[in-house]
Amino acid sequence: MCGIVGYIGQKDTKDILLSGLEKLEYRGYDSAGIAVRNAGGVHVSKVKGRIAALREAVNEDVHATMGIGHTRWATHGAPSRENAHPHQSSTERFTIVHNGVIENYMDIRNQYLQDVALQSETDTEIIVQLIEVFYNELNDVAAAFRKAVELLTGSYAIALIDSEDSETIFVAKNKSPLLVGLGDGFNMVASDSMAALHVTDQFLELMDKETVILRRGEVKIIDPDGQQVTREPFKAEIDATDIEKGTYPHFMLKEIDEQPFVIRKIIQEYQNENDEIKLDPQIREAMKTCDRIYIIAAGTSYHAGLLGKQFIEKLANIPVEVHVASEFSYNMPHLSEKPLFVYISQSGETADSRSVLVQTKKLGHPALTITNVPGSTLSREADYTMHLHAGPEIAVASTKAYTAQMAVLAILAVDTARAKGIELDFDPMQELGIVANAMEALTDQKEELEELARDYLSVTRNCFFIGRGIDYYVGLEGSLKLKEISYIQAEGFAGGELKHGTIALIEEGTPVIALATQENVNYSIRGNVQEVEARGANSMIISMKGLDKEGDAFVIPHVHDLLTPLVSVVPFQLISYYAALHRDCDVDKPRNLAKSVTVE
Ligand code: M6R
Repeated sequence: MCGIVGYIGQKDTKDILLSGLEKLEYRGYDSAGIAVRNAGGVHVSKVKGRIAALREAVNEDVHATMGIGHTRWATHGAPSRENAHPHQSSTERFTIVHNGVIENYMDIRNQYLQDVALQSETDTEIIVQLIEVFYNELNDVAAAFRKAVELLTGSYAIALIDSEDSETIFVAKNKSPLLVGLGDGFNMVASDSMAALHVTDQFLELMDKETVILRRGEVKIIDPDGQQVTREPFKAEIDATDIEKGTYPHFMLKEIDEQPFVIRKIIQEYQNENDEIKLDPQIREAMKTCDRIYIIAAGTSYHAGLLGKQFIEKLANIPVEVHVASEFSYNMPHLSEKPLFVYISQSGETADSRSVLVQTKKLGHPALTITNVPGSTLSREADYTMHLHAGPEIAVASTKAYTAQMAVLAILAVDTARAKGIELDFDPMQELGIVANAMEALTDQKEELEELARDYLSVTRNCFFIGRGIDYYVGLEGSLKLKEISYIQAEGFAGGELKHGTIALIEEGTPVIALATQENVNYSIRGNVQEVEARGANSMIISMKGLDKEGDAFVIPHVHDLLTPLVSVVPFQLISYYAALHRDCDVDKPRNLAKSVTVE
């Protein structure tokens, strides 16, 4: 959560920082600020609200060629101007932006800052005040910076400027993502390469506990032992147009529409010229030889994991457990003798998942990360990575990453089955091709789905999604999509479980959306619909061609049984999108959320 950016170069920095922060808004957007330094000193502008509001607040007449910026998702202290970054030390000599959580900030405050009058409720202000205290002691900014950073426990990506120094941005990183962007006569630092792509595509990776002295013509990386480190730059593979909306009103709609292309890209990336599955042989071996798989994930990725379990157990005959990352850390089940941990994460930065990865690595268990961001923390720290190839997903509500996760899991399951010598009557690439076509057909039916959203969800305060078997898992994802962007209280239930309590919530007109794509439960899920209708529910059935019945509200094209979730989720995504739109909600940036959840 939170995004930071810094620039030191020749150009006026305001716009470079603001454009960078716009690209980082997915990391948090409750308040924002920048600080720029020129001969007149350090000029801070900050607001409660979005970057658009910050743009209006920034003084156009101030010009500077170095500065730092921040977009916030509040952890310590409410979203307010006072708690917005940048924060300054008491004399205003030092100015800081920070992403992360300082776990020992109260201890630091009690031990070193008893006499300092703090201006905010943040853990971040503690860092900048501590640097000033150490500077007064040491009379050396770099030494004071290092000494302060060494005392911090927790996660941080930090950029600091000194009003007395026109040549340096001081940078530090631990656990929170941070990259250096390299340019001709300038350098940058940013939480994500997207924030600097408008000026450079050359980046340097930073490791935990490294500090950096960033100057116009120099990047000095220092490791935790105080040794200077040299590192090869890499080119960001993101196309700048991938992170623009183009003609779409929202990223979410664009990303829903991109799903057929993503599935085709996955087919291409995971197939060799002999039409065989292309996979790191080490992953194949790890899958083949483990005795149980533990899938760890959060939110939408957890929902993909539930379906991954179905694929792997049904096709490759390996037992799979799926766990919510935030629970697993302190509630670890009895593990099998030869477990393989599979981390599913769009961003690769989810702190809850990372905390499990750290624990299971300590126990010596191998880890595979399935992610959309190969250089991410979860990818770097796991033994193996499978890339989703979904392209940047900007909308907070995950859509194309979810379907990509399922496609990659299906390929992995088939590959493992084949490696184990299991004969399958299932060609994943051919079936995924059919899925891509079906998705395309659905994204062409937006008007119908918009109408369903209007009819069922315009005025309601709640909604239930029901299904059986894999349809139940897709219902969980449908309900998450709807609630997070439209604020309608939506819950997913196993069709047969409703009558064990939840049916008490059904009133006259309560929307119930049922999914019926599985032949073996087609009859029983329809029975559950009858039960809620008898109690006044306003129900709709979304079924699959071949299993449809008269009166079904929407019918998806026929695809292979196992892969129906990749297709049946699309109407849920679009219905949620239109429900949010009709309610005037901020579709891409729903309240209280952030795209990348980097705090536990
Ligand atoms: O980046 P991750 O996949 O690890 O993120 C996990 C969840 O925070 C995420 O899936 C969240 O539930 C979605 N934004 C919901 O649409």
